[in-house]
Amino acid sequence: MPPIAKPQLSRFASDTARGLASEKQKSIPSRYFYDELGSVLFEAITLLPEYGLTRADERVLQTHSRELPKFIQDPIAVAELGSGSGRKTRSILEALRAQPNDFSYVPIDVSSSALASCSKELGDLASVEPICADWQEGLAQFAELRRGSRPVLLLFLGSSIGNLERKCIPEFLRGIRACLRPGDFFLIGADLVKDVSTMLLAYDDPTGVTAAFNLNVLGRVNRELGAEFDLRTFAHEVRWNQAEGRIEMHLKCCGDQHVYIAALDETIAFRAGETIWTESSHKFTTVELDDYARASGFASVTNWVDAEWPFAEALWRVDATTATARPRSQRKDLSRSSTTR
Ligand SMILES: C[S@@+](CC[C@H](N)C(=O)[O-])C[C@H]1O[C@@H](n2cnc3c(N)ncnc32)[C@H](O)[C@@H]1O
Repeated sequence: MPPIAKPQLSRFASDTARGLASEKQKSIPSRYFYDELGSVLFEAITLLPEYGLTRADERVLQTHSRELPKFIQDPIAVAELGSGSGRKTRSILEALRAQPNDFSYVPIDVSSSALASCSKELGDLASVEPICADWQEGLAQFAELRRGSRPVLLLFLGSSIGNLERKCIPEFLRGIRACLRPGDFFLIGADLVKDVSTMLLAYDDPTGVTAAFNLNVLGRVNRELGAEFDLRTFAHEVRWNQAEGRIEMHLKCCGDQHVYIAALDETIAFRAGETIWTESSHKFTTVELDDYARASGFASVTNWVDAEWPFAEALWRVDATTATARPRSQRKDLSRSSTTR
């Protein structure tokens, strides 16, 4: 008898199956943190005293957004990768409002609840045209729909770039460049390297909000894929990986166990002490950011750095001398190699 075909798995199910099948290091991609509860927990993280990133990013944007009209005149759209609630974007849209023509705001995010709060937050400043998709897919959709010759400002705030594997960043950025045109600008936020104890605490707050955010991904696997994870048997673990220059978040299994996942019709074995790797947050230097710009067809215009918490917003211009053909590699899904926040 031919084998009975398993029903087509959702992308969440197939990514989870692949990530948990590894003998060496189990993982779940960080993009799956952001269901409705995960998005609310992330917003709570941004309010934690230990998580200085968001406040630093906000301070930089509040101080420097008013300089944007010097560089980008009369944009047709401000598009944003991984917009989240869009709270930080307000100062950018306000700064660009004094331009002769209206522009649209296009948030691109996998979380429909984030897009909903974003539309509510910013609807008074621009016509909001959300795209619920992965970064690359969403940007490609936006590029195809784009009309006219007015420039675009693309945002990638909050150091989400740090969620990509370092070796994948140049290819990811070249893919972004291929969706833009000469005269467009890219504003990219990046958390900078700082002392290790400050970085560890930012991802391991004593209140336990980040632990809840991390554990919620197993809760989501339970809710959406019919798994039987007992969340009390996994513990939030944060590591600084010096060789890779990144904070890693893991979920550590507290005892040998087997967990059934209905959507996969599989039972996964976990050993005591082994971890599920859920997120990487790479930390950068401004020199590294300038190198990434050059390597991916952008010209670095300026780096705005917060004085209190080392965090940079890098403003890049699309370099007219670089070919615009979309590299074939862009079709590859790089978000699999992202383990984010
Ligand atoms: C850490 S939050 C950052 C939100 C906001 N940009 C900020 O700086 O506060 C990351 C956002 O990106 C979205 N996201 C994560 N991975 C994504 C992916 N691969 N494609 C599209 N959106 C993604 C999440 O849903 C979430 O809203």
